[in-house]
Amino acid sequence: MSNKDVVIVVLAAGKGTRLRSSLAKVLHRAGGRPLVENVVRACLPLGAKKVVAIVGHQAEQVTAAVAPLDVEAVLQQPQHGTGHAMLVAKRAIGKAKFSVVLPGDAPLVRTETLKALIAMHRSGNAAATILSAVVADPSGYGRILRKSENSVAAIVEDAQLTAEQRELNEINSSIYCFSTEKLWPALAHVKPENKHREIYLTDAIAVLASKGETVLAQIAPDSREVLGCNTRADLAEVDRVFRERKREELMKAGVSMQLPETVLIDPEVVAGEDTVLEPCVQLLGKTRIGSRCVIRTGSVLSEALLGDGVIVEPHTIITESRLEDGVIIGPFARLRPGAHLKKGVKVGNFVEMKKSVIGEGSKIPHLSYIGDTKMGSHSNIGAGTITCNYDGVHKHPTTIGNRVFVGSDSVLIAPVKIGDGAYIAAGSAITENVPPNALGIARSRQSTKSGWAAKKRREQIEFSAKKKSVRKKPRAKKSRPRRKR
Ligand code: UD1
Ligand code: MG
Repeated sequence: MSNKDVVIVVLAAGKGTRLRSSLAKVLHRAGGRPLVENVVRACLPLGAKKVVAIVGHQAEQVTAAVAPLDVEAVLQQPQHGTGHAMLVAKRAIGKAKFSVVLPGDAPLVRTETLKALIAMHRSGNAAATILSAVVADPSGYGRILRKSENSVAAIVEDAQLTAEQRELNEINSSIYCFSTEKLWPALAHVKPENKHREIYLTDAIAVLASKGETVLAQIAPDSREVLGCNTRADLAEVDRVFRERKREELMKAGVSMQLPETVLIDPEVVAGEDTVLEPCVQLLGKTRIGSRCVIRTGSVLSEALLGDGVIVEPHTIITESRLEDGVIIGPFARLRPGAHLKKGVKVGNFVEMKKSVIGEGSKIPHLSYIGDTKMGSHSNIGAGTITCNYDGVHKHPTTIGNRVFVGSDSVLIAPVKIGDGAYIAAGSAITENVPPNALGIARSRQSTKSGWAAKKRREQIEFSAKKKSVRKKPRAKKSRPRRKR
């Protein structure tokens, strides 16, 4: 059914005092996104006429968080409560027949649940339909006071509950569908008669019910969907649920996970069939992983693009980099932004790389820094090789051709070019270009002194013998005081 007669209002102006934070509550993140963005994303598939966000605290930042999703921001300044927020939204809602209201701090709600709420509201010809939930611990939430099995008399806020009402475990999610023309007169009756002197949207429910209007409540199929984030503990729990959902999605798509509860995956990550994620892996941002990859324990991939059959050994960090099919990397390797490893490249332990392209089948197996480098295919870089790309002011490029062999512990002082098939002697400090197929050697010559070591050992033996004979001479005994028994 089309929802072009619905305007969605996301309440996101509050500060979130209970979080004890300098950041507005709805900007706190769960499941890899700001809370308010999660809420808006759940609404988008409804195809409503428009989505309005009520902003107040840190209005600019909150607006920026939702603007890319085509949301109209309306300023509520100061914030006099959830009912006041709706009054502020009146003009933006305009003549839309229905208003769906959501708090910006309850991001787990699913589109399907919202669809069912709107459907119930329409078919029940209601003035208001509340999304409620039955929970084990209702403390902190407003409670649903039912008139009969099918209709609601009021919502009572936690602070205003009688001892008897405190036993009620059906809570208000703060997600509602209103028939707009009935909401305004009801809100006009609501007075700020509470501790905070705020106009509560919840009070409009009792007004509607007392006028004989139909007020319904739909119980959410999964009570976790209505979890609000008022405290840090709430935030952690909501994040946990989002992460669990994302893992389930990837497992359904054919990804294996060991100890899945330890694996953290951002919402936009994609991974192919038969890829395996070991414990404590993090896949962040828009990371895309192909099929049959293995991401081993402790690795963190952020904005990484991996082809098929890539093996990421333990504790490897990959940021904004691309790894083509069959690459093997790690353990303990770090790719900083702009690394591109072509097919079959092997990067080993304790290698750091940035802004570099490594050609097919090349190997950098141990202890290297490669920066601003273009390397051809099937080259081999010995252990400890460093590209000196920085002179303290500027960065300079290093170019290494195909089938180059760089001996261990060489420094390539950029800008420098090593031609195809060239050979660099181990321990060289290369400051000049090396032409194709040449040997570059830049180290002092070795001198070998025959018999030197044997002579040295003899001297050492003689020296220690002398020392011993000096020690053997009897020393004058010191008399120790006797202990008393
Ligand atoms: C609210 C409900 C409560 C419900 C709970 C569910 C009220 C009075 N109470 O309580 O019945 O069980 O949500 O999570 O509505 N906001 C504004 N402008 C304001 C005040 C708040 O935009 O002037 C926004 C906040 O940013 C927040 C949302 O409204 O996103 C709800 O406000 P919050 O303070 O979290 O209300 P709760 O105490 O959680
Ligand atoms: Mg809340």
